[in-house]
This record gives sequence, C-alpha cells and structure tokens, in this order.
Amino acid sequence: MEFIKIEHLTHIFKSNDEQKKDLKALDDINLSINKGEFIAIIGVNGSGKSTLAKHLNGLLLPTEGACFVDGIKVEDSEEIWKIRQKVSMVFQNPDNQIIATIVEDDIAFGPENMGLPREEIRERVEFALKSLHIEHLRKFAPHLLSGGQKQLTAIAGAIAMRTNCLVLDEPTAMLDPQGRIAVMKALKELHEKYNMTIIMITHFMEEAMQTQRIIVMDDGKVIRDGTPKQIFEDKKKLKALGLEVPLSVDIADELRHRGVKISDDVFTAEQLAVELEKVVSCR
Ligand SMILES: Nc1ncnc2c1ncn2[C@@H]1O[C@H](COP(=O)(O)OP(=O)(O)OP(=O)(O)O)[C@@H](O)[C@H]1O
Ligand SMILES: [Mg+2]
Repeated sequence: MEFIKIEHLTHIFKSNDEQKKDLKALDDINLSINKGEFIAIIGVNGSGKSTLAKHLNGLLLPTEGACFVDGIKVEDSEEIWKIRQKVSMVFQNPDNQIIATIVEDDIAFGPENMGLPREEIRERVEFALKSLHIEHLRKFAPHLLSGGQKQLTAIAGAIAMRTNCLVLDEPTAMLDPQGRIAVMKALKELHEKYNMTIIMITHFMEEAMQTQRIIVMDDGKVIRDGTPKQIFEDKKKLKALGLEVPLSVDIADELRHRGVKISDDVFTAEQLAVELEKVVSCR
C-alpha cells in the first residue's frame, strides 16, 4: 500500500543576493514509497538528500510538484499536524532536538503533547529506552551526554511518537561503531516488529546494505532506485559518483579477479565469510 508519493518535486532555494543564482536542490523527483518499506537514501554531499527529507513532513514546501503522505498533500498547511503524527524526523545534530532537562522527560515530551494517558506514556518511554539499550541514561541531563548518547535520546523521542514512519537524516553520523550498530538494530526491529516505514539518509554503505531499497541521489535527482544487490552490482558507477563500495563487495571482486571462486551474491562480511569458508574447505 502506498504511503508516500512524490510527484515532479522540484525545490529551488531562492537567493537573496542578486549576484548569486537560485539553486535547484531537487529536480523533478518522482517516488512512491509503500507502507512498511525500509529505505536508505545515499548520495554525495549536496545531492539533495536532506532537502528531500524535509519535504516529507512539511519543513520545506515544493517549488513545483507535490508530496503526499498517506493520501494527504503536505502543502495543505491545515493538515500539517496530521502529517506530523504520521511522520517523525530525526536529524543529524541531536543538540537541536532535545528539549527537556532529563532524558526520560525528553522522550516523553512528544507523547505528552499528544495528550496520551500516563500509563501509555510510561510504556512508550520504557519501550524506547529499552529498544535502544539506553535505560541507564534515563535520569541523565541531556547536556551532559555525549553526542552519540544525545542522538540515541533523540531517536528514542521519535520512537515514542509511534508514528507509522520515521525519517532519519544521518542519524548515526555522530555515533561510535557500537552506537551505530545499536541504532541499526533498533531500526530493523521497528521495521520488522511494527512494520514501520523507515527512511534513513546515510553515508555508511554498510548501513544502506541492511535496508530493502536504496535510492541514490545526485545533483537533485534520483539516479538509481533498487535493492542493495542491484545498486552495488554497478560498482563502477557508484565509484564514479564518488560513493563508497562496501569493503566486502570490494574484497570479493578482488578475489574473483585473482581467480578465486566467489559467488556473485556477496554484499556483507557474513556472506564473504561463508564464501571464503567454502574455498578453504575445498583445499
Ligand atoms: N537553506 C538553504 N538555502 C540555500 N541553499 C540550500 C539550503 N539548504 C540546502 N541548500 C543547498 O541545496 C543543495 C542540497 O543540499 P542538501 O542539504 O539537501 O544536500 P545533502 O544531500 O543532504 O548533503 P549532505 O550529505 O552534505 O548532508 C546544496 O547545494 C545546498 O547548498
Ligand atoms: Mg544532508
């Protein structure tokens, strides 16, 4: 079932300076996203990923074209609160997203504003803390947390909203490897258990590979859209675009060049390990 529809979306940032040209950050984007999809958006700096994400809950409005969430046109400002109950956003910098003076109050902030019963709020806060493994931070003052811990708190706040859809703009950019793994695990669980629609912008290919669908942006356009397998098959093209190819894909390729029999289906470290095991056990 279609959840998000983007039709001929163009966004132009108008310049106030007469000397400077206007900037077309999004150029005729067309996308259809179904309920329950887990999607990564990748692309080099300035390709338009964040601008696109901001259209999904009305933080930016189209210059041309339209965006629909669950059938509601995002531009219709009277409906914006409805949209924000369906899509929650997590940004790269958690500092701008934390409001309360104690972590658990911050996570409760959204549900409290929705006027939910106490018990329900408590349950949601518990779930959010638990799913990100940050129960121990519940009484902390957010300004005393590390960047990564703050980001986990911001994500917990979004999870507590129980919106159908989470849009995350480089949520793991400030996290250490363990924090990144924790966030990916939590996102996968939200997707699998609650059929949440998850759209994450990332520069980490290892993360993109763990989703179901990758959208590649370049210069304001969607230039590729497919499964991780389809996207990483065309390694040359990805590299030409300035994007990284996952290390396991590169190693598998290198081994094939050297005549080692490795299946074409290697995208993760686990898959590479299985293939190598086969090679070793044949010897
Ligand atoms: N508020 C703004 N005013 C003017 N130009 C902007 C504004 N926000 C973004 N841009 C421009 O729009 C283009 C797309 O920016 P955007 O932030 O969407 O890229 P991105 O793909 O998210 O990049 P990154 O990977 O660095 O986060 C860039 O050229 C950027 O300079
Ligand atoms: Mg960005």
